[in-house]
Amino acid sequence: MSFYVTTPIYYVNGEPHLGHAYSTIAADILARHHRQRSDDVFFLTGTDEHGEPVAQQAEAEGVTPRELGDRLAPRFKEMARKINASNDFFIRTTDEGHMERVQKIVQRVHDNGHVYEGMYEGWYCPRCADFKTESEVGPDNTCLIHKTPLTREKQKNWFFKLSAFQADLERLYEERPDFVIPEFRRNEALSFIKQGLQDVSLSRPTLKWGVPVPWDTDQVIYVWFDALLNYYTALGYGIEGEDVTKKFWPPFHILAKDILKFHAVYWPAFLMAADIEVPRRMFIHGYLLMEGHKMSKSLGNVLDPDKVIEQFGADALRFYCFREVSFGQDGQISPAGFESRYETELADQYGNLANRVLSMIGRYRDGEIPDADAEAELAADFNGAVDRVLGLLDAAELTQALEEIWRLVRRLNQYVEETKPWELSKDESSAGRLDAVLYGLAEGLRVTTLLLHAYMPETTARLLDALGESGRELAEFGSRGGGQSLGELAPLFPKLQTA
Ligand code: MSP
Repeated sequence: MSFYVTTPIYYVNGEPHLGHAYSTIAADILARHHRQRSDDVFFLTGTDEHGEPVAQQAEAEGVTPRELGDRLAPRFKEMARKINASNDFFIRTTDEGHMERVQKIVQRVHDNGHVYEGMYEGWYCPRCADFKTESEVGPDNTCLIHKTPLTREKQKNWFFKLSAFQADLERLYEERPDFVIPEFRRNEALSFIKQGLQDVSLSRPTLKWGVPVPWDTDQVIYVWFDALLNYYTALGYGIEGEDVTKKFWPPFHILAKDILKFHAVYWPAFLMAADIEVPRRMFIHGYLLMEGHKMSKSLGNVLDPDKVIEQFGADALRFYCFREVSFGQDGQISPAGFESRYETELADQYGNLANRVLSMIGRYRDGEIPDADAEAELAADFNGAVDRVLGLLDAAELTQALEEIWRLVRRLNQYVEETKPWELSKDESSAGRLDAVLYGLAEGLRVTTLLLHAYMPETTARLLDALGESGRELAEFGSRGGGQSLGELAPLFPKLQTA
């Protein structure tokens, strides 16, 4: 099986923040999880460098848009590295390989008869790079998202016949009820479609910063079509000397609700117009909020991922984001919230479990996992757990899957308390039971840690090594016998140093 997952490509109009990191971590968890299922995976992220959002910021800073992109794209790359994103390619829409492919596809849409020249008159938000429909215009003609004034535009430009795809889109949504998930987002997109689709601008006549329209080079391609096409073009040139489009297309997109319309409405229609298969699925997540507000550069309430990682580590950040906020919903995050989850769940529940299991096997069995059968009642609690996690992650339910895994962590801790291996160890006649208990704990810890590996790649790798597990494929409870010698393990989540 092949699996292709993407993040939005981020505008190079400011420093990366935790909101961007969030989408990238989500996609990375899915990518890593599918690798553990032995799928062939391609994971793409990158930067969106054209259009007004970048051109206007460059102007404000007195630099060219290219200079701004050249300064900020490496910052986004660095962020991906720091959060341990395992992306296979990092696309920049200023790449030659991207731009020439965009032109080819736009030309094809034109040649297929889906483009015409017309006059646009209406409201436009340069920050969203979005032509607003009436229902999207806020009080005093402001942008509902940015709360800033919209501009009145009247211009001759090229249009994409979005309206011609009304019936096709409605059919797509009907035939594939999980094309857009979660369901309430699907309903939102579908009701937008059902309101009646208007044609949408495909080019900008007044802007110079973008990909030239191939048949009218005085205009540039509207940044959203340029940007959306990144998902397709990257497969053509992202791997040197190889076109992997056939192997990986169609994609699974991860994005937040702010850009739902572009992905769930414009994008499938545009692909149909270009004779390209529509995406496999898209998951629309909510916002991470700080003190009630969306984290954003313009609001100035951004949490710097570097600082969070410095204090808690990348794994803890990856864990926290999907544990604290239900993926799909908006949710509050805060430094105090980080601290508390870190202490109670990572240090006390998981880290401590690992240390206890390893040290008991060290003490009572000379550091060798006993070769025994686990007790049936523990085995029963692991029954079906891997399948449940797989099912949830197929639908990108990252929080529910993590809760399913955490249930196992809690169960193992409870099992330690119930069986009290330290008491069994005092009584020679309980040696057989102690073997079964210690084996069950080591096996449970191995299976649970393999499931957690996609979420927290670094710490879990250390624990798996200590458990003598060199593979990373997901495993059923009881599928490995005992007999392995344990390695050393430094505390997985050391207690925080409080200043
Ligand atoms: N360039 C466009 C996307 C083009 S995709 C073909 C864009 N860029 S952006 O820099 O504004 O990034 C928006 C995306 O960043 C959101 O959809 C979301 O994935 C992520 N997030 C930015 N802030 C966020 C939060 N506060 N919370 C969660 N995700 C956030 O739009």
